[in-house]
Amino acid sequence: MAFRKDFLWGGATAANQCEGGYDKDGRGLANVDVVPIGEDRLPIITGQKKSFDFDDDHFYPAKEAIDMYHRYKEDIALFGEMGFKTYRLSIAWSRIFPKGDETEPNEAGLQFYEDLFKECHKHGIEPLVTITHFDCPMHLVEKYGAWRSRELVGFYENLCHVIFNRYKGLVKYWLTFNEINMILHAPFMGAGLYFEEDDNVEQVKYQSAHHELLASAIATKIAHEVDPENKVGCMLAAGAYYPYTSNPKDVWASRQADRENYFFIDVQSRGEYPQYALKKLERAGIELDIRDGDLELLKENTVDFVSFSYYSSRVATTDPKLLEKTAGNIFESVKNPYLEASEWGWQIDPLGLRITLNDIYDRYQKPLFIVENGLGAVDTPDENGYVQDDYRINYLAEHIKAMKDAVELDGVDLLGYTTWGCIDLVSAGTGEMKKRYGFIYVDRDNEGHGTLKRTKKKSFDWYKKVIATNGEDLSND
Ligand code: BG6
Repeated sequence: MAFRKDFLWGGATAANQCEGGYDKDGRGLANVDVVPIGEDRLPIITGQKKSFDFDDDHFYPAKEAIDMYHRYKEDIALFGEMGFKTYRLSIAWSRIFPKGDETEPNEAGLQFYEDLFKECHKHGIEPLVTITHFDCPMHLVEKYGAWRSRELVGFYENLCHVIFNRYKGLVKYWLTFNEINMILHAPFMGAGLYFEEDDNVEQVKYQSAHHELLASAIATKIAHEVDPENKVGCMLAAGAYYPYTSNPKDVWASRQADRENYFFIDVQSRGEYPQYALKKLERAGIELDIRDGDLELLKENTVDFVSFSYYSSRVATTDPKLLEKTAGNIFESVKNPYLEASEWGWQIDPLGLRITLNDIYDRYQKPLFIVENGLGAVDTPDENGYVQDDYRINYLAEHIKAMKDAVELDGVDLLGYTTWGCIDLVSAGTGEMKKRYGFIYVDRDNEGHGTLKRTKKKSFDWYKKVIATNGEDLSND
C-alpha cells in the first residue's frame, strides 16, 4: 500500500469563501469581504485600487458565500459520508477579534468554531485549521496599515493564545498563513496591504513578510507550549518552475523564480533567512527592520511539516519573444506548449505534482501535506441537479497517481491530501461561483441567485471509494 494507514484524506475550504454571515454574531469586517466580483477585483486584490468598504456599484460574493455559517452541520455530514479523515478550514480572525486589536475575544465567534470542530469529531473528522487564510480585520488595515505594522505580530499572537487554549484537544493540526508567498502577488487580499503612490512597494511587501514570518514562528512556539500534541505547518502556493528551453539563461530564470517562493519556507522550515534572499534584498535597496531576538525566534521555532497548494507547474524564460502568458493562480507564467489547460487557462500537469513534491522534500526533509489541489470547472447540472463531472474525476485521479508515485517510488513522506473546494465555493481569484471545484454542487450563481441547495456530484461517490481504498482504486466506473 502506497499511503500510510493513517493518511489524512479530505477536503479544504477557507472561511471567507464559504461561510458568509459576514456581520453575524459580532463578526467584524475583513479585507476579504470588500473584494468584489468583476473587473475591479484584480486591481483591488493587488493593492492598486482602494476598497475599504462596500459600495452600491459592486457585488461582494463573500458576504453570503455559500452560507456555511448556518449550514455547516449538513456540509460536514456530507464530508463524513465521503469518509473524510480531515477537513481543512480556516478561522475568520474577525469573528474572534472583530477589530483585531481588542484584548478580549468575541465569545460568539469562539463558540461557533468550537461547535464546528465538535461536529467534525462526531463524524470522525480531524480538523486541520488555517489560522489566517488571507483575512485581516479591516480595522487593522485602516488603523495600522495591516502587516506593514509590527503591531500586527502582537495581535496575531493574542489570537493564537486564545484559539490554542480554547481548542486544545479539539484541533491538533494547524497552518499559520495560507499561501504565505501570495503576499508578493495579491498583497491586499493576501495580507491587507494597500499601497499609496509614494510607497516603496517591494520594501513594504518584504517588511510585511518579515512580520508574518515572525508571527508564524510565535504561533508555532505557543502551539507547542499549549499542547505538545500540536503539529504546525507552513503553507506555500507551490508549483515547480520549468525552464522554457535548455538555454542556461532560462534555467537560471526558473531557479530564481522558484527561490522567490521558497524564500518563505526556507525561513519557516530551516529557521534562517537564506543568503540568496539577503543578497537580493540588499541589491534592491530593501532594508528590513529586524530587531533583537527576531532571528533567534525564527531559528528556534521552525514548523513540524510543510504544506502546499498545487494546481500547476510554471514556466520561466528570459526570451521576450516567448512571453506568451497563461493564467494560473494569480501568478503569471509562460505558457507550456506540452500541457492542456483548464477553462480558466490553468495548465494541467500531474507529473508536475510529483516533481514539486520531490523538490520540496529534497529541500526540507520534513513531512509534507498537500492541502489544495483540484480543477476549477463549469458544471452543468441535469434537471435533478446532478453533475456528471468526469473531467474532475480524471484530473484528481491523475494527480493522486502522481502523488502515489512520489510516495511509493521516491519515498516522499506525505501526511495527507485535501482537495480544494470540496464543496463549491466562491473563487478567490475571480470571485465567481461558476468556477467550481467541489464534490458537492451548490445552487448559487455569480450574481448571488440560487437556493443554496447542496447536491452530490458524480465525483462524490468516486472520492468516497478512493478514500475507502486508501487511494488504491482510482477507477471511474
Ligand atoms: C489558492 C487559495 O490560491 O487557490 C484558495 O488558497 C483559492 O483560496 C484556490 O480559492 C483556487 O483559486 P481560485 O482563484 O480558483 O479560487
